[in-house]
Amino acid sequence: GLPRTMLRDIANVAAGTEVFITGWAHRVRHQSRIAFVVVRDGTGFVQVVFPGAIEAFHRETSLAIRAIVRSEPKAAVELQPAVELHVEEYSIIGNSDGDIENIITEDSSQDKKLDQRHLVIRGTNASSVLKTRHELLRAFREHFWGRDMIEVTPPTLVQTQCEGGSTLFDLMYYGEKAYLTQSSQLYLETCLTSMGDVYCILPSYRAEKSKTRRHLSEFTHVEAEYPNITFEDLLDRIENMIIDVVSIVVRRCGDLIAFVNPQQLKEGCDPKEPSSWKFMPKKPFRRLKYSDAIKFCNEHNILNPETGAAFQFGEDISDQPERAMVALIGECVLMTHFPAEMKSFYMSRDPADKTLTESVDVLMPGVGEIVGGSMRMWNYEELMGAYKKENLDPSTYYWYTEQRKYGSVPHGGFGLGLERLIVWLMNQDSVKDACLFPRYMGRCTP
Ligand code: 4AD
Ligand code: MG
Repeated sequence: GLPRTMLRDIANVAAGTEVFITGWAHRVRHQSRIAFVVVRDGTGFVQVVFPGAIEAFHRETSLAIRAIVRSEPKAAVELQPAVELHVEEYSIIGNSDGDIENIITEDSSQDKKLDQRHLVIRGTNASSVLKTRHELLRAFREHFWGRDMIEVTPPTLVQTQCEGGSTLFDLMYYGEKAYLTQSSQLYLETCLTSMGDVYCILPSYRAEKSKTRRHLSEFTHVEAEYPNITFEDLLDRIENMIIDVVSIVVRRCGDLIAFVNPQQLKEGCDPKEPSSWKFMPKKPFRRLKYSDAIKFCNEHNILNPETGAAFQFGEDISDQPERAMVALIGECVLMTHFPAEMKSFYMSRDPADKTLTESVDVLMPGVGEIVGGSMRMWNYEELMGAYKKENLDPSTYYWYTEQRKYGSVPHGGFGLGLERLIVWLMNQDSVKDACLFPRYMGRCTP
């Protein structure tokens, strides 16, 4: 018979052509003796006209259809092209139960929608977010490949901590204590001497005890590590990566981003053109030292919600005040030089002030922190001192600390939370919306 046409290609088929498609009834509208059905096949959408009396079928019924392509400007709504298919013959592959119409509605609670996530992801919104997520992953890899970086796959079952004991998930590993990794950074550092610039894109796990719009228990961590760079080089690489990745994704699927996040698109502009987007980051990002951020908060009346008072040097600028600060600044921020007390044990000290670290957080409007990075202590004795100060037993880290014994070099890297980048890019309410099936405190299903 006729070869199958995928809906991603349907806009390019000449009017009058007969096509064969398969897909799911995305939306069904019955009129007297005629039905308009939007069909979805995973690659796209199209409006299909069923003439004459047809079986009444429900949303999500799977169909095989032979039809003639007609040009129809009025069909071009949402992500559908300006064509209409006129059915010549169809068959139902799989029926869809009528309760599909009532399981979830616009008004269903967040929790109910998450219970039904396997159905929600069929929606235009959720599937656009997930497809953009795919394009982001591809863009990150293209960016790293373009710089001849090597992708490695560190273990996620580990016996070391990277970002503090309080968010560790522990488990029994054949009778031994083990953890789910918080970050692949320490393992990336072991690769520098044999593979040079390396990266990985893997899940990281944090037992976050609070429910916020930006914390997951399992998130996708884009991490990179570079030998023989300076702190300035690191900041530069982070900036370049963000700008590059966002431009690539806009060119690939700006239409999907525009469907989900139309507010950021400049009036009447092409969504696949980076300059059409108000959010497009520009180089250089605003640089702000931690100490200047504290000053900024105090000058703009942003209080510390922990104390209800003005921020003191040394206090953590948490989610809410951080977002308030970036909202006022209105562009991407590279916040640097955090006090050592607030940050992880492995971060190298600022040569100009040893109480500070060569550390950076990238803050984006609407979300706050999306990247955390730093230069690493590369002197053996200094690192051992950091373990002591942190009260950490260095013996399980021998494979990490020994790097400093055999040809150590200055090095640094960063980690980016993919879901937070999506929340920013697509103006989502929460990182949960950026996951296929989110994991956070209180949810491990479906
Ligand atoms: O700032 P973090 O904790 O830094 C690290 O893990 C470093 N070891 C990374 C490195 O240098 N290779 O985490 C990095 C980023 C954060 O900026 C945030 O975007 C994301 O990971 N992240 C989370 N995303 C969702 N849910 C959570 N619970 C997250 N914790 C961190
Ligand atoms: Mg951080």
